[in-house]
Amino acid sequence: MVKVVVAGAAGGIGQPLSLLLKASPLIDELSLYDVVNTPGVATDLSHISSPAEVTGYLPENGEGVKKALKGANVVVIPAGIPRKPGMTRDDLFNINAGIVKGLIQSIAEVAPEAYILVISNPVNSTVPIAAEVLKKAGVFNPKKLFGVTTLDVVRAETFVASIVGEKDPRKTTIPVIGGHSGETIVPLFSQASPSVDIPSDKLDSLVNRVQFGGDEVVKAKDGAGSATLSMAYAGFRFAEKIIKAVKGEKGIVEPSYVYLPGVAGGDAIKEATGVDFFSVPIELGPDGAEKAINVISKANDHEKKLLEVAYKDLKGNIQKGIDFANKPA
Ligand code: NAI
Repeated sequence: MVKVVVAGAAGGIGQPLSLLLKASPLIDELSLYDVVNTPGVATDLSHISSPAEVTGYLPENGEGVKKALKGANVVVIPAGIPRKPGMTRDDLFNINAGIVKGLIQSIAEVAPEAYILVISNPVNSTVPIAAEVLKKAGVFNPKKLFGVTTLDVVRAETFVASIVGEKDPRKTTIPVIGGHSGETIVPLFSQASPSVDIPSDKLDSLVNRVQFGGDEVVKAKDGAGSATLSMAYAGFRFAEKIIKAVKGEKGIVEPSYVYLPGVAGGDAIKEATGVDFFSVPIELGPDGAEKAINVISKANDHEKKLLEVAYKDLKGNIQKGIDFANKPA
């Protein structure tokens, strides 16, 4: 039996993500939590003829979230406010940090064994917050905490395909590593598989487009939010990979932002990057993050320069999350 919970299920990401999860035959129970509108979203989705049983919960003075989370195997968190034009992901910190902290406290209490997939921005800081809260509660399992950076991977696949003329972007695997904001996002095109030949005059703009692709959407939506549909696709892709790996499928790898010291292979990456949290391709297995794959050592000189910038920014983002989680309530 697989129970998946979406926290923030009535939002721009939450609704299409819940739709994709409901359509998946891998899921038996889909539990939707939000501070608004979940009864309607759940009832609507429940009419879809797929196996998952759908339930919706509102806060109910703190009881609703516990009911929603009880028995969860996977919790996906797209709760929080999105960006408007001119905002960075860091501008969301003040509101989203508190939302993520509260949700993680409930998970620690009710579903400490669950895989936790954090979408809420700024991911670079909200994942360290989650780790600190789980540590304090004595239930932190680094193999089960993931910052979802899949949208950066999806964008890299799509933008590269348009440059090299590949019709199906899914055929090329591109490690996108680092964090999930601006210059902390580092696509390693030198390690694309199969290899890709990017004309040198197009490389800088391609890197920039992957790093700041989210801004294209924020600008085009003109005040109505940030990426929701592509993010729902990416979040579902990552959640589905976790579920398949837990069910025993082998050889599943996807980049994700994890706590390096807690994942096999992570120490060497921590040494190279100087940070505790970083996104690298993660081999997934029945217990979650089986192995962090060190792609940094193979980065070319251009990519190494990009990485240096990412390390510096990430250090500040991570510390900000840790400080927030540890400040007295
Ligand atoms: P939205 O505003 O449309 O939806 C957010 C939902 O969260 C709302 O329904 C709201 O009621 C709910 N919510 C607020 N507080 C809550 C709480 N305490 N518990 C449960 N639900 C709560 O926003 P959208 O566009 O869905 O974005 C959500 C988050 O995802 C934002 O922080 C955004 O920056 C982030 N994001 C992350 C991406 C990534 O690649 N990791 C990509 C795009 C967005």
